Amino acid sequence: MKRIIIQFGGTGDLALKKLYPAYEHLMDLGFEFTVLALGRRFKDRAEFLKTMVSPKASQEFKSHLQYMHYDMADPEAIGPLRSHIQAIIGEAEQAELIYYMALQPSLYEEAIHQIQEVDSLISCQCILDKKIVVEKPFGFDLESSLRYNEILLQAFSDKEIYRIDHYLGKEFMQNLLILRFHNDIIRSIWDNRSIESIQIIFDETHGVDQRLGFYEQIGVVRDTIQNHIMQIITYLTMNEPATLSPEDIAIEKVKVLRSIAPVTEFHTGRYESLGANGGRIVNTPTYAALKLAVNTYYFADVPIYIRTGKMQEKAKSLIYIKFRNITGKVMHDESITENGVIITIHPELTIDISMNLKKPNTSWKSKPVRFRFNQAETFGANTPEAYEQIIKKILEGDKSLFPTMREITEAWRIVAPMLEPEHPMEVYPVRTLPRFANELAQENGFTWFD
Ligand code: BG6
Repeated sequence: MKRIIIQFGGTGDLALKKLYPAYEHLMDLGFEFTVLALGRRFKDRAEFLKTMVSPKASQEFKSHLQYMHYDMADPEAIGPLRSHIQAIIGEAEQAELIYYMALQPSLYEEAIHQIQEVDSLISCQCILDKKIVVEKPFGFDLESSLRYNEILLQAFSDKEIYRIDHYLGKEFMQNLLILRFHNDIIRSIWDNRSIESIQIIFDETHGVDQRLGFYEQIGVVRDTIQNHIMQIITYLTMNEPATLSPEDIAIEKVKVLRSIAPVTEFHTGRYESLGANGGRIVNTPTYAALKLAVNTYYFADVPIYIRTGKMQEKAKSLIYIKFRNITGKVMHDESITENGVIITIHPELTIDISMNLKKPNTSWKSKPVRFRFNQAETFGANTPEAYEQIIKKILEGDKSLFPTMREITEAWRIVAPMLEPEHPMEVYPVRTLPRFANELAQENGFTWFD
């Protein structure tokens, strides 16, 4: 079978940093496909290869990577694209076209129309299957996401549409489900009878300058909260699915999202020099802190505090599950601290359970100690990159790591108030935490986990 990935946004940052390395590795593993990269940036393949592909890349990968100068604004561009695809299909008896949109959402509508047109023109004597892959964020808001979906459904069935959230390809995400549903001691304490609060912290040190064109239209809410953070929340709080099939997992995730009210307690800010390298300051949020709740029997009244954004002093990605400290109160002993589960994603993938144990040479005093699982030490450091996992699933036609449209629309509903333009935005110096993050903590009587 001839499989072709038609890469819209083939000269972009995502393609360079994530997709091409993943394609190369998958080819090394024996997956067979051709990539047709589309973009305006380079006039020919030689120039494209020079910038977009490492000189160390394998011959196998390079020989399956084609490039076509493609300007979406040019109404004549579709003809040559069709011919190029047709030429790659050649005499194959069976072919699969995978249209992959790694574009700014503002270009989606146009790209979908062009894909529909090209697709309708392709003809061959072969069995022809197709898929379409759409990068996150899926739309700008609830309304546009529904519109894009409607257009997509004119040419593709829902089964053929892969909506990407690469966090679902991450090992820590998949491990959350195993941790929760394959361990009886965890199962019995994982609800509002034992859990007091949850913190999700995703601080990044880098800014957005190289991706400014994309990011200035998007901002932190669309970039990570509507998708990655919402997906993490579903994995942390959903009920056990009937099976681990994509359909059963999606049912439980939707229940969680449906129970979350639109966010009302939130703050956003942007770092001082956003856009300065490009000669103009851009007013797009790059950091946010918020509080929300999952209003189900098992998680009602457990506040979930989230902070995430760019240009921070330290890269820190973690989830902190804080348990109630009834014991400390009953025993009237301040040396007893709360139990906690800390899932650290960056700098290392670890899971800690913090417990109180006896401090030596004291009478009945305790000290918090941590039991640690370290992914790299236990299983080796070769955990596949999230994008590799995701693309592998697309090639295999397995939709288990892709959010459904229902999840996506619920997530837009939840973050909608954060997208309103009129709320104030703090300007924070680079490498500092916006003031509002600590204010949110003070107002709610908690301290961010450190
Ligand atoms: C992407 C966002 O989806 O996720 C980026 O567009 C963000 O802004 C990135 O930095 C974080 O992903 P990862 O895999 O580096 O944790």
